[in-house]
Amino acid sequence: MFSDLAVFTGNAHPELAESICRSLEMPLGQCDVFEFSNENIFVRILENVRSRDVFIVQPISSPVNRSVMELLIMIDAFKRASAGRITAVMPYYGYGRSDKKDQPRVPITARLLANLIETAGADRVLTVDLHAGQIQGFFNIPVDELTALYTLSRYFKERDLAEVTVLATDVGDAKRARNIARQLDTPLAIVDKERMGNEETVSALSLIGEVDGRHVLIADDEILTGGTILAAARIALDRGARSVTAACIHPILSGGAAAKICGSDIEELVVTDTIPLPPEKRDPKITVLTVAPLIGEAITRIHTGQSVGELFQ
Ligand code: R5P
Repeated sequence: MFSDLAVFTGNAHPELAESICRSLEMPLGQCDVFEFSNENIFVRILENVRSRDVFIVQPISSPVNRSVMELLIMIDAFKRASAGRITAVMPYYGYGRSDKKDQPRVPITARLLANLIETAGADRVLTVDLHAGQIQGFFNIPVDELTALYTLSRYFKERDLAEVTVLATDVGDAKRARNIARQLDTPLAIVDKERMGNEETVSALSLIGEVDGRHVLIADDEILTGGTILAAARIALDRGARSVTAACIHPILSGGAAAKICGSDIEELVVTDTIPLPPEKRDPKITVLTVAPLIGEAITRIHTGQSVGELFQ
């Protein structure tokens, strides 16, 4: 259908793109993506991509708005260079929390971003754990959403932990946490959380389930300020938990979140590399698991027309 496979990266997470290419046993495509002194982004593809099946790896991670523009401009450059098919590989889909009009006169930026990516010329999207699965419907092109839940649960399974309870950080996230609990064959508890308007502060109002005397594993899709995880850890410990470990897929860790979590009673934070973890956010308490082989396998399946869903059966 399309000639050979090609993987390119913007500046958001070249390390992940390199790891994906290592898992695919192929070189990363050659492309310059840089900013002029007037902050205009420029892209130049340094090899022929005519008719090729192009995958552009670019999580919408910090600096978020630059990552967006780089992705859009790269898609445009590949389209104009006659790529056969262009897949935007966004291991983290930013603006995912802006997915509904839940206050008067606010945008739905997750939808706007989807429109921009399509208008730029993407033919497909490959992503990992959207903040809400419904975001898939903002696109009119095929979206493959992978999940890193099994990457996290495999890590904990191998440690053969006893007397564990998985704790969801809110009712909306209970489905994801229940999947991890099922994989680990442990009970589930849920925090009833409240966020005030657009404030980034969170209160854990109550906890549904039993954590007394248990090792608690708090599972979330993303950590921004750390407010949610810290409030969940506090309420679990207050209710008699023996220890608290936290896990999340997308470690945004904005502001001083990494330091706050690592300085708290949370014993370990397990995350994935869907977005980069810069040196100032690293800590011996933080374990990073890679999603590169998962994304690599999905790319192979998309390229060869095999089922992506089978990966999770
Ligand atoms: C909320 O719905 C999400 O699952 C996370 O709990 C939230 O995005 C984490 O944000 P923060 O770390 O700022 O509390």
